[in-house]
Amino acid sequence: MSFGMRPIPGRLAHCLGLQAVLAWIRCAMIADWSDTVTHRWYRCSMLPYNLDHVAIAVENLDIAIDGYRTLFNIEVLYREVVADQGVEEAMLAVGGSCVQLLAPLNPDTPVGKFLATRGEGLHHLAFAVPDIIAALEHLKELDAELIDETPRIGGRGARIAFVHPRELTGTLIELVEVSGE
Ligand code: CO
Repeated sequence: MSFGMRPIPGRLAHCLGLQAVLAWIRCAMIADWSDTVTHRWYRCSMLPYNLDHVAIAVENLDIAIDGYRTLFNIEVLYREVVADQGVEEAMLAVGGSCVQLLAPLNPDTPVGKFLATRGEGLHHLAFAVPDIIAALEHLKELDAELIDETPRIGGRGARIAFVHPRELTGTLIELVEVSGE
């Protein structure tokens, strides 16, 4: 009754042997192309691993927060004045990401000018990156137009940097350094 099973270990050994040979070939190929592969992996590590937040420019922070709370039951994680950027921001948790509401501290700030010309609405997308220095170096290698060549300090003391909207479909992109745990 077990005779029918006899060939199986042989086939298994053959398969494992084949797998070992294929693995060896893959290793040899990676060794030959080590520079390219390492470079590609380095590039991959620069990929944003999360949409940290979507930022909306608003005229009045209290009214905007009330709207999100009333319509969607979304609560505020924190509110903070970021004087350096001339805004008061409110971060609202939405699943694994956030909506960031930005109200200008005065009309002469970047968000104040944005509201004057474009009105309320989408202001920027923020990508979480594990290493903002490496991410900026990667963008500089590609000659991307950056607003910040070096990181500045954003809400909650996070290191952030902005990529110019001219670089990508008219959309302002923010990089936020966030640890990956
Ligand atoms: Co932001």
